[in-house]
Amino acid sequence: MLKYIKNIKDFLVASRIFLLIKPFSGLFKTLSNFSLFTSWQSAANRDKTLLINDFYVPGRDHSRRYKLYNAVGQALALEAKKINYLEFGVASGSSFKWWVNFNKNAESHFAGFDTFEGLPESWGGYKKGEMSFQIPDISDERTAFYKGLFQETLNPFLDKNGNRFHESLSIIHLDADLFSATIFALSQLYRFIKKGDIIFFDELSVPNHEFLAYKIFTESFGIKLKPLGGVNNFYQVAFIVE
Ligand SMILES: C[S@@+](CC[C@H](N)C(=O)[O-])C[C@H]1O[C@@H](n2cnc3c(N)ncnc32)[C@H](O)[C@@H]1O
Repeated sequence: MLKYIKNIKDFLVASRIFLLIKPFSGLFKTLSNFSLFTSWQSAANRDKTLLINDFYVPGRDHSRRYKLYNAVGQALALEAKKINYLEFGVASGSSFKWWVNFNKNAESHFAGFDTFEGLPESWGGYKKGEMSFQIPDISDERTAFYKGLFQETLNPFLDKNGNRFHESLSIIHLDADLFSATIFALSQLYRFIKKGDIIFFDELSVPNHEFLAYKIFTESFGIKLKPLGGVNNFYQVAFIVE
């Protein structure tokens, strides 16, 4: 039986028949990942232990994410804790500044990573190069920014500052929108992440980008992430590493 399947597969490859489907591959990929996200979302929505969940709320309001940060921050008493905050995708610094203002511990560190020259690839309706901002001007010596692609800046940062992950609770904020950037950041952080750390996704419900990165990361790296809460119908979601 296995021999026949192998022969059929070889024949299909040799015939190149699947080139006929190539124009629709993006659509099939979106439908497939959307169905997987919907299944994930249905399970998350049944979880009565979530700190916050607004499903279903019509219309998306990006400012609702601050309710999520606040719910997680209050529940885990993050205001006074020494934290190691890393944000991937800083842009003008709105979410970054929220955390710097919220956390009062003098020993905390806040690292912001961004090209500061906009998206390195087009994403949804945004073209490559859009979302370009100056490095935020923040007069708090606990903060530092790393300009460039994550693919260039993250590993040198981890070589120098990897010890921070052992010394404090890490909060990883993924807001780069793109699959490539999100999976790269997660895969490099894998060796440093520990139980109890928090990971925020800012666009989890985008099926071919952050959701796909979440799926591949959790399935391939054996890391279990428990949802803590979500807003905007699980567009923004917080997880705790188990
Ligand atoms: C949605 S914006 C971030 C928004 C920000 N967190 C806020 O609260 O306003 C996404 C950012 O990710 C950055 N980005 C995406 N992929 C990147 C990569 N591979 N390396 C560096 N920056 C990246 C873009 O430059 C862009 O500024």
